[in-house]
Amino acid sequence: MDNRYFGVPTAALVEQKERERNSFNPATYVSETVAALKTGLGQDKVVLGLSGGVDSSVSAVLLHRAIGANLHCIFVDTGLMRKNEYEEVIGSYKGLGLNVIGVRAGDKFLGDLAGVTDPEQKRKIIGRDFIEVFDEEAQKLHSIKWLAQGTIYPDIAESFAAHKPGVAVKSHHNVGGLPEKMNLSIVEPLRMLFKDEVRRVGRELGMSSEMLGRHPFPGPGLGIRVLGEVTPGRIAILQEADKIFIDALRAEGLYNKVWQAGVMLLPVQSVGVENGARTYENAVALRVVNSVDAMTATVVHLPWEFLARVSTDIMNGVKGVNRVTYDISAKPPATIEWE
Ligand code: XMP
Repeated sequence: MDNRYFGVPTAALVEQKERERNSFNPATYVSETVAALKTGLGQDKVVLGLSGGVDSSVSAVLLHRAIGANLHCIFVDTGLMRKNEYEEVIGSYKGLGLNVIGVRAGDKFLGDLAGVTDPEQKRKIIGRDFIEVFDEEAQKLHSIKWLAQGTIYPDIAESFAAHKPGVAVKSHHNVGGLPEKMNLSIVEPLRMLFKDEVRRVGRELGMSSEMLGRHPFPGPGLGIRVLGEVTPGRIAILQEADKIFIDALRAEGLYNKVWQAGVMLLPVQSVGVENGARTYENAVALRVVNSVDAMTATVVHLPWEFLARVSTDIMNGVKGVNRVTYDISAKPPATIEWE
């Protein structure tokens, strides 16, 4: 069995990875990996959690090519996703021929988050709920041997760093947790790849540039972009504002030029005026950053006219928002997400 996709990375493999970085060939990677997965997995059943993100999606398509219907994917609707995201993403997964089970679990997540305002506590609840929902679905599949994960090389480097005392800034809900709970063997077909290599592998597998070009999105989703208490009403307000912003970035040809963009709903109300009457509504912050590895990030200087237009569209189009701000904080000392 090839250690590259199964088990713990050895120092020798890491060294080999550094040497190979410049000569990476996606076609060779796909054929070698598919062959290794076929041999290593045989007729075993594998379960994989899809998030809608690039890494889990490319992992799924690669594994599907190797083992076909023995790959079972689970896609959990946490109720904390972008507007219409669940429906759109599950549709494109089915279009790729993947065997996907969709689980609508929004009520559970939102119920457990009621009354909680502390960011770390929110992250822990969302992480725990995700594991519970995923595990329950996986149990129904019977005789699963493997858990596949979309881990990539920087995740390994980051979780090594996170084990050093004092450096874990936020508990990321998708690293760790599941493997301990499920007691399955782990297969991670992208574990030695950098992000750009993952995208090239995806392209080689025939995946759409829309799916491969998706911005990073945090596992805990809008749960950590609604600051303060997460309620269905506040999620809905944020979904509307976020949709206006992301659609505008796409229409302006800016989406593919930036690393990540989103909106935060602030735990702040302010006074405004509408049709001559006083309002007392919510404020949002738009956030757009460029980055290479998410460890540092710079603020994107969006055109002022564009920002002004989005601001007007959000205030006019989203009931409950009467103030729009633009976050100009670099990482460090800020982080990309506010919580
Ligand atoms: P921060 O906020 O730490 O975020 O500067 C760095 C990058 O990671 C994303 N992020 C997460 N991704 N699970 C994820 O998969 C998480 O729990 C999580 N928290 C933050 C964030 O969106 C940014 O791209």
